[in-house]
Amino acid sequence: EKGGWPSFMDKEIHEDPEAVANTLLGRFDAKGDIVLDEVRIEPEVLRSIDRIVVVACGTASYAGLVARYAIEHWVRIPVEVELAHEFRYRDPILTPRTLVVAISQSGETMDTLMAIRHAREQGSRVLAICNTQGASIPRESDAVLYTHAGPEIAVASTKAFVAQIVAAYLLGLYFAQIKGTMFRDEIHHIVQQLRSMPEKIQWVLDTQADTVNRTATHMVNARSFLFLGRHVGYPVALEGALKLKEIAYTFTEGFAAGELKHGPIALVDAGEPVVVIVPSSRGRSTLHNKVVSGIEEVKARGAYTIVVAEEGDPDAERYADAVFWRPVCSTLLSPLVDVVPLQLFAMDMAMLKGYDVDKPRNLAKSVTVE
Ligand code: F6R
Repeated sequence: EKGGWPSFMDKEIHEDPEAVANTLLGRFDAKGDIVLDEVRIEPEVLRSIDRIVVVACGTASYAGLVARYAIEHWVRIPVEVELAHEFRYRDPILTPRTLVVAISQSGETMDTLMAIRHAREQGSRVLAICNTQGASIPRESDAVLYTHAGPEIAVASTKAFVAQIVAAYLLGLYFAQIKGTMFRDEIHHIVQQLRSMPEKIQWVLDTQADTVNRTATHMVNARSFLFLGRHVGYPVALEGALKLKEIAYTFTEGFAAGELKHGPIALVDAGEPVVVIVPSSRGRSTLHNKVVSGIEEVKARGAYTIVVAEEGDPDAERYADAVFWRPVCSTLLSPLVDVVPLQLFAMDMAMLKGYDVDKPRNLAKSVTVE
């Protein structure tokens, strides 16, 4: 079943490119416009949506956080992302013009299921982004957009995460198309970029795995890791931190790079590993410069810096002890590649420590209790 791979996790990380490609498949008409046939909510209703609330848990919630940057930018409506278990137990403001988007790989997460039941009782429409055909969450939603990552067996979610980002991006672009918040050409251009992502992810798998493995070997005894990122790199940092704690049982914390001086920098001591997601040095250079100054600050305090950066970024070379390179791509699409070395890193760390990467202790693949 593992098809020659040492673990399901290894196999599934190597299926990231396919998960992205398959989730894009069949979502366009001959003119290149987006058609989401499964989203059976009338265009007039979709046009009236003035707010999106994403509900999800764990990795799926990080896919929602990534999508927030893109959807708010493209569609100009507010997107909130809330952990399903927190959402449910307050009194969230929901109207018929709110679209609740539930993201779930398994489609059986009880917390997320309870959140959508609550949303529908309040009169909001619910759209599920789900990887499992016919699961409870899509069954109880008004509409569904399936991710086509294929069955995910390893407990730690990998290929489902990249597929969730793609599905949420398709939804955002579809909204932009029907609300007319972007030019058709702009949408087509982003779709073209999305189509090139499987190849870029493959490049990371082919060329960066050795560096990742060497870095893991070097850091195997580290007791804790800090992960930091800014903008879309922030949820990627959270996801990298979650992967490592969940399968390598290492204490990690992920935070927004801008928070460094508001507290977390106190943790940085000689030898402390800090993983930093560095945005592209082209275009949005203020973002890049701010993150680079964060690296300088932790480096000055003796941190061991592991950096995910764009090929050829001179600052990465200058301040990093180890670099995982990303091929050139637009900022909004960079999470699809940046998470890949972090998935490999967590897996390598767990393997080196002798743990079962597919079945981490205390965890279940789908959490069907509250
Ligand atoms: C992390 C992980 C969990 C799940 C979370 C939601 O690797 O797998 O954090 O992402 O339990 O699960 P689904 O997506 O099935 O609702």
